[in-house]
Formats: sequence, structure tokens, C-alpha cells
Amino acid sequence: MSSPEDTIGPSTTETAEAGPIKSNQVSEGDAAHAAASAEATSAEATEPAEEAAGDVLVRVEDLKVHFPIKRGILLDRTVGYVYAVDGVSLNIQRGTTYGLVGESGCGKSTLGRGLLRLVEPTGGEIFFDGIPVRHLKGEQLRRLRRRMQMVFQDPLSSLDPRQTVESILVEGLKAHNLARDSAQVGRKLRETLDAVGLPTGALRRYPHEFSGGQRQRIGIARCLVLEPDLIIADEPVSALDVSIQAQVLNLLEELQRERGLTYLVIAHDLAVVRHISDIVGVMYLGGLVEEAPSDQLYAEPLHPYTKALMSAVPVPDPVVEDQRERILLVGDLPSPANPPAGCRFHTRCPWRQETRCHEERPALRELSPGHRVACHWAEDIATGRISPHEVAAELVPAHETLAGPSVTQETAEIAGTLRPGGD
Ligand SMILES: Nc1ncnc2c1ncn2[C@@H]1O[C@H](COP(=O)(O)OP(=O)(O)OP(=O)(O)O)[C@@H](O)[C@H]1O
Ligand code: SF4
Ligand SMILES: [Mg+2]
Repeated sequence: MSSPEDTIGPSTTETAEAGPIKSNQVSEGDAAHAAASAEATSAEATEPAEEAAGDVLVRVEDLKVHFPIKRGILLDRTVGYVYAVDGVSLNIQRGTTYGLVGESGCGKSTLGRGLLRLVEPTGGEIFFDGIPVRHLKGEQLRRLRRRMQMVFQDPLSSLDPRQTVESILVEGLKAHNLARDSAQVGRKLRETLDAVGLPTGALRRYPHEFSGGQRQRIGIARCLVLEPDLIIADEPVSALDVSIQAQVLNLLEELQRERGLTYLVIAHDLAVVRHISDIVGVMYLGGLVEEAPSDQLYAEPLHPYTKALMSAVPVPDPVVEDQRERILLVGDLPSPANPPAGCRFHTRCPWRQETRCHEERPALRELSPGHRVACHWAEDIATGRISPHEVAAELVPAHETLAGPSVTQETAEIAGTLRPGGD
């Protein structure tokens, strides 16, 4: 595993190391409560179901997360919904990485949070190792969350500045009743730090004493110490210097090989997702528009939106770079509170056709093995029968901005030290 650093400091070693992000965080009172109650709770519902899964660890069927838009001071009226995730179906194979890309606001993080039920889905089903996640409550849900951990973009805000690294790691162990005797805990902490390339001395230090990359490693350690099956990494490297990004991604890959981990990696950077993913899914306005094995998607994107995204990625070869065509999309992403009818991409699509694109939402169809596309005209676009045309920008309503939950609240829920909402 990566070699530990001798020096720990805010920035001096940053370029010499790597470390991902993640988070779980806890309050002592909640942790004590969780430790006491975990013993008494049946584990049955969080064990794999008989018929489970095969190689599929996560199965998502028609998942919807709609946030109500409230108005009024005295009467809290619901005046509409933000359709953040609106009918997503996907599978994540055990031991593989599923990369999720798309523009800001398209629903990537909400999908990740919905899988963990950090936000409550409005509809659809989630199966984790064959277990129907949406039907779990209280302690059963909290126990399952040990197996599904999350790495966040900003490690500083997801790590409690008042806790030492040791306390951060032990808290998760306590919350899940995994800290039985101190020798075992000590061994586990040393092992985990070693796995993420941090020295044992890091245990006595506080998050602010580390560089950004090192803090990411602490975040990953907080996941690993709970021995999860799935890690959802939401923009795990976007807050890091480019030189450190590759090291963090390599660390994630190394941990996957060693521990058989399954990842859902969310990123807006196509290069990041390509590097690490087996399968890539492209989201647009709450829906999945294309999904394929990584190499295939990058070699032959079939959905107009994916084509546009790919065409914006620079090519290292200057000759190819000069010759290649870019597809410039007009207009902003429409508001998820008022998504366009028909194909959601039709307001910006250079290939759109009268009138089907305006009226009928395309289903995600398999065009070749493992390659699914949500476009009525994908075959015709691929063969060139339909050519792109100029698209006039359409005015779209401004984004509805509603406050989401704080990262620290979420990390505490994942760590298992907050009671799941609504139970
Ligand atoms: N808790 C919430 N309450 C209300 N609306 C929310 C909440 N969380 C997210 N949204 C809205 O849902 C939509 C999707 O947000 P989300 O954060 O999932 O997008 P994203 O693809 O992760 O974007 P980014 O790349 O910027 O992180 C946005 O319009 C956002 O404002
Ligand atoms: S269905 Fe129509 S609007 Fe949507 S991506 Fe295909 S061609 Fe474009
Ligand atoms: Mg996000």
C-alpha cells in the first residue's frame, strides 16, 4: 500500500501524497446509544436475501427523488416539486466501479444520497445485496449503512475539527458495536491507516493539521474501518490539486483490488470517471440518458448529450485536437422544477425531430450488449441518417434553489450515530 508520510502538515506534503475523501461523523451521545442498541437488534434484515443478487450488489429500479417546493410563511404550502431524480434504473456489479457523470444540478448527488436514504426516495426500489432498502427502518437501516459508506467532496467540512483522527475512527466502530476490546481496536486502526498510506502517528492529530490530500485519506479511512461493501464517492477528487487527484484515484483502485470494494463514483469530470470506471452512466435532468462500459462510451457515445460532453474534452494529440468537431450546446440546463416535456434534452438537442422528441420521453433501450441509450433516434444518428441542425436557445425558468442537508448531518447519519429520519 502507499507508504506513510513522515511529516504531517497542512500543505507542505500535499503534493507528495494522496488521500480521498469521505465522511462519517458522530456525537458521543448518539454513538453510545447506537452501541448499546446495536447488540439488541436483529441483523436478519441486513443480511443478503436468499435469491440475492448474483453479481449485482446494487439494483435501482425507477428511482425517484422529488423535493417539495414550499411557499408561505404561515401556511407551508407545497407549490411544486424539484424532480431531482426522476426514474433512474441501474445495476452496479459487485467489485466494480460505476461512474456517474452529468452537469451540475442533474441529480447525481441526490441519486447517491437516495441510495443511502440520506434523502427519502419518492418512488422506485433499491436493492442492496438483494435487500430491499426502502423498506428498512430504524436500527435495520442504520446497520445496513455500515455496508454502504460515502466519501464527500470536501473532507474538511465532513471531519469534525474537534476530534482527533483516532476519535473519528473509533466513533464509527463504537456506533456499530465493532469496538469490542482495545487491542483489537488498536490493531484495526493501525491497519486502516496503513491501508490509506498514513502513519500511525496521525491518530493523535486533528484534521486541520493535515493537507487536503491527507484529509481525504482520513475520510477514506473512516469508511474502510467499517469494512463496507459499497463506497459512494461524491466528487472525491474535485477539491484536490491535479497532481494529487491521480494518487487518490490510484488509492481507491488499489483498495478495490485488495478488498473487493464496489464503488459508485460521482464526478463532473469525464477524465476522472473514465480513469476509474468499469461502467459509466450519464445523467441529464434527473434521468439516465446513456450507460455503457467505459471504453465503449468514450469511443462511441450514442446519445446527443453524451456526444456533446465528450466533444468538450480536449484530446492530447494537437493534430486531432485541431481537427475534431465540438458540439456546443445552447442554453442552460432547464430547471428540474419544470423539466421539458417529451425528451428532457430536446430544448438543447441538435438532432431533435418534430414532434416525437417534444412529446414522448424516450426509454433507456439497449442498443448493443451493455450499451443503453435514451434517445428515439439513436440508430439514425449513429448511421448519419439524421444530421445535427442549429438549435435556437429556449428560455428556461431559473433554478429553484432549496437548502439541502448539511454535510456533517449526513456524515453522522452514515456513521450510524443519528437516527434515520422519519423513524
Ligand atoms: N435537499 C434538497 N432540497 C431541495 N432541493 C434539492 C435538495 N438537494 C438537491 N436539490 C436540488 O436537486 C437538484 C439536483 O441536485 P444535486 O445536488 O443532486 O445535483 P448534482 O448533479 O449533484 O450537482 P453538482 O454537480 O453541482 O453537485 C438541484 O436542482 C438541487 O438544487
Ligand atoms: S430523443 Fe430527440 S431530443 Fe432527445 S436526444 Fe434523441 S434526438 Fe435529441
Ligand atoms: Mg453533487
